[in-house]
Order: sequence, then C-alpha cells, then structure tokens
Amino acid sequence: MYSPDKTPAWLALEKLAIQNKNDRIVEYFSKQPFRFSEMSIKKSGVLLDYSKNKISTDVFAQLLKLADSSPLHERRAQMYAGCRINLSEERAVLHTALRNRSQQPVMVDERDVMPKISAALERLKCFSEAIHKGEWLGFSGKKITNVVNIGIGGSDLGPKLVCNALAAFKIPDMKLFFVSSVDGAHHQDILQGLDPAQTLFIISSKSFGTQETMLNAHSVKKWFLANSNAESTDIKQHFVAVTANSKAANEFGIATENVFEFWDWIGGRYSLWSSIGLPIVLSLGYENFVQLLEGAHEIDQHFLEAPTAENLPVLLALVGIWNINFQGAQSHAVIPYNEVLRDLPGFLQQLDMESNGKTINRLGEKVSYNTSPIVWGQTGSNGQHAFFQSLHQGSNIVPVDFIATLEQPLETPEHNKSLLTNMLAQAEAFMLGSKDDSQSNFNNCPGNRPSNVLLIDKLSPKTLGALIAVYEHKVFVQGVIWNVNSFDQWGVQLGKKLSARINDLKHAEHDDSTANLLNLVQRYF
Ligand code: F6P
Repeated sequence: MYSPDKTPAWLALEKLAIQNKNDRIVEYFSKQPFRFSEMSIKKSGVLLDYSKNKISTDVFAQLLKLADSSPLHERRAQMYAGCRINLSEERAVLHTALRNRSQQPVMVDERDVMPKISAALERLKCFSEAIHKGEWLGFSGKKITNVVNIGIGGSDLGPKLVCNALAAFKIPDMKLFFVSSVDGAHHQDILQGLDPAQTLFIISSKSFGTQETMLNAHSVKKWFLANSNAESTDIKQHFVAVTANSKAANEFGIATENVFEFWDWIGGRYSLWSSIGLPIVLSLGYENFVQLLEGAHEIDQHFLEAPTAENLPVLLALVGIWNINFQGAQSHAVIPYNEVLRDLPGFLQQLDMESNGKTINRLGEKVSYNTSPIVWGQTGSNGQHAFFQSLHQGSNIVPVDFIATLEQPLETPEHNKSLLTNMLAQAEAFMLGSKDDSQSNFNNCPGNRPSNVLLIDKLSPKTLGALIAVYEHKVFVQGVIWNVNSFDQWGVQLGKKLSARINDLKHAEHDDSTANLLNLVQRYF
C-alpha cells in the first residue's frame, strides 16, 4: 500500500536534507547560472519563481520522482472523470467540471453532469441580467442596487475574494456586502445604511443547515420585514438561496424558483465556480464570471496535460512538501503585495488547512509525517511593519509566497513601483540575510529563508481564475502525496456538535472549566 515515506524518493530526500544542511540558497545561484529560467514557469499570465528555495538540482530531481511515484497521475485522472475520490463521503469531486469550457461530457454514475452545469450557468446569466437591467425589481418597484451575501466558509470566502480582488471590473451602482460572522454586529453594521426595498439577500449555504448562516438569515429576514412596508409575500423579491439542499431553503421560506442549485460533488471550499458565484455574477457581470471560469479551465488543462517538471501546480506543491517534510517548516505565509488581494490569505487558509489539515490517511490510518502547515498572512505593505521582523530573525523558518500583479489599473505608477520593489527586496533579504560588522549581533539576519514569488501579468477575471485554480491543484497534489482525503472535513464536526450541546443549556455534563464559564456567560444571553 502507498505511503510516501516508504518510497525511495522520500528516503533519498531525507538523506539529501541532512547532506545539504549547511547549504546556502544563494550559492545555488553561483552553481546554476540560469537558475531563474530553470526554476520558474509561467502559465496563463501567472509566473512562479521557486528558485529562492533551498532546493539543489539533486533535491529537485528527487521531488519529481516523489510526485511520479505517488498515485498523482491516477488520482488526477479519476478526479476529472467524476470518480468518487472523496472516499469518506463517497462523493465525486468535480469543481473542474464547473469550468469545463470544452463541454466534453463528464460522467457521474453514468450521467453527464455538463447539461446541469450549463443550465445553472444560464440561470445565473438570466437572473443577473434581470437585476442589472432593472427587470427584477424590489417589492415597491425600486431597482435592486444592494446585494448582501449571507454565508460562511466556502459560501463566503471565495466570492468575497473575487468580488474584492476584481473591484475594478464592478458593474456601476451594484454594491456587494458579505455577512459571515454570527456576531450580530456584523450584519447590523452592514444593514444600517441599506434601503430594504433595494436590497437582495442571498442565503448561501451548501447544507442550508450551518448554524451561523441560518441565524443570520433569520435575523436579516426579520430586519427586512420590520424596516420596510413589505408583506411576507414580498420576500420572494428579496431573498434567494444558493444551496444543495433546496428542501431546507423552501422550509426557510424561499420559493423553489428562487433557489440556485449546486450539487454534493462540489466541496464548499471549491464552490465559487458554481451557483455560489452568484454574488460574483451580480457584482461583475456574467461575462466576467465566464472569464474567471476560462482562466481556471486553462490551468485545469495545463495541470492535466503538462509533464511533472513543467506543471505549475505540481511544482508549487513539491516546493511546499520539501519545506514542510524535509526542512521542518510548520507554517506558510501568503503575502500579497496588492491591496485588492487582501482576502487571498483567508481563502487559502480554508482551502489548504480544511483540505489537508489531517493526520489520518485515506484508508483511516494514522500518518507519521506532517501535512498541511498553518497558512496565514496579510498584505505585504502592512505585514512588513508588523510581523516581518519574525520572518527575518525569528526562531521559526516560515516559507513565504509573495504575490503581486505587474500592471495596476490605477494611475499610480509610483505606488506600484514601491510595492513591487519592496516585495523583491524582501524576498532577496530573506535569502541573503546580513552580517553586521559591529560587535553586536542584533543586526544579524541569518537569511537562507525560502520564498516563492508569484507574479500576475495583470489582475483580470481570467488571471485570477488561473491563480485560484493553481492553488486548488497545489493542495490536491499535496493531498495525494500525503495520501489524505483533501475533500472531507470531519474535524469541523466536533466543534459544531459541542456548540449545539452548549447551546442547549439544559445539558449538565461539562468539564469544570466549561461549566463555570458557561455559568458566567449565560446571564448575558
Ligand atoms: O464548517 C465547515 C464548513 O462545512 C465548510 O466546509 C463550509 O465551507 C462551511 O462550513 C459552510 O458550509 P455551508 O455552505 O453548508 O453553510
């Protein structure tokens, strides 16, 4: 049975990690004069430079062998073909079908899913056009200009990332808001300035049972009725649902014709390409959504067809595996040097940690190697003046993905120059470090700290779609190599179960700490 740590490539990498212990990344550049061209790759407007990692040519060769001796080729083919590779939930995994622009059939249980996907896209198109053209109006005849998405996790992070990152492509007069937290202040702050008669609420929840989303949905429904002259029959003009559970949406009061469907073979964190993308279509228009799908589809094709050594998501995954499993990295920072990409770290956090934060393999056995690192980050300008100190001199070695766009839509070339030069300087400084000539050590930066640079030609729906798909496939490759199921999330269930138990105040059995804290807090309910 496959286990990565038993493969010859893994064992060779362990030896190389010891042998190369004292190597300096910068020395590899002297030995390899064309290291940048040899260790960078560009696809669909996204360039990855992975040359500033402590990866010698020997290590690189073994990493490629590690990928080729894993079930990657077989598992990838199974995913694209609609096999039930999500074993623990017995589900197919078909976000690639959502952006299958070739329209080639994709079979699940001997049925082609493409007609369903095309029909769902057509509904998004018609609905968004009706809103934009003012054919779908609010109950009092006013145009809808505000859209509030109520959802959490995958039903929030992806659409929010895309809408904010592509703000430059926004349809004029459409305002998008995202409510995710169950903290009442979140929805109250947003609702405060809104005219209910011009507001559409999207209740986004694959399960239509997530406690936070349901509580928020009920509260905004109350707010809507209390703050307008609308009757409960007017709700149909203002509330739509995006879900794989239309029955529960009906029970909430959303009519079947207002339910945008998706299916159990789309994981929450992989769902922005489905009807969960409704806020994206409303904010940016249908054509831009199609461009997003096109960009992802290009990467899907590349990922499927390119050989291991020229496959961008595979290379990104292998660099990560080297840093995590052979260099001891426990965390991974995502640092966009672009303000509109501020939601990327949060999105990738769920994508990576919910997919691969596991210690049990696909067959239910405990693994003896590390899997998903702690993924975190924020925009570079701010980060430089907050946590970069630790990245330069702290005791943890944190591999970084620096992400930037070359062409900015704004008329601020001097700001763009500052962003890009700062980013390059940081990546170089992490590698080079510095030695202070004076007696004190305070100024010494050890350097030799690994980083990738991802440069996007120009941020557009297409390149953003490509970038997100690169990361999705990176996470997939790592999951295959680690032999975990990247598509379930059983760990989240325990918190949900205990929260329900604590919510039910009658339950008496708690540990002493929880019981006392509960006693303290419950007088504020
Ligand atoms: O709690 C984790 C999770 O199940 C995520 O996987 C998912 O993206 C999120 O909750 C929201 O779930 P739903 O879309 O069903 O409300």
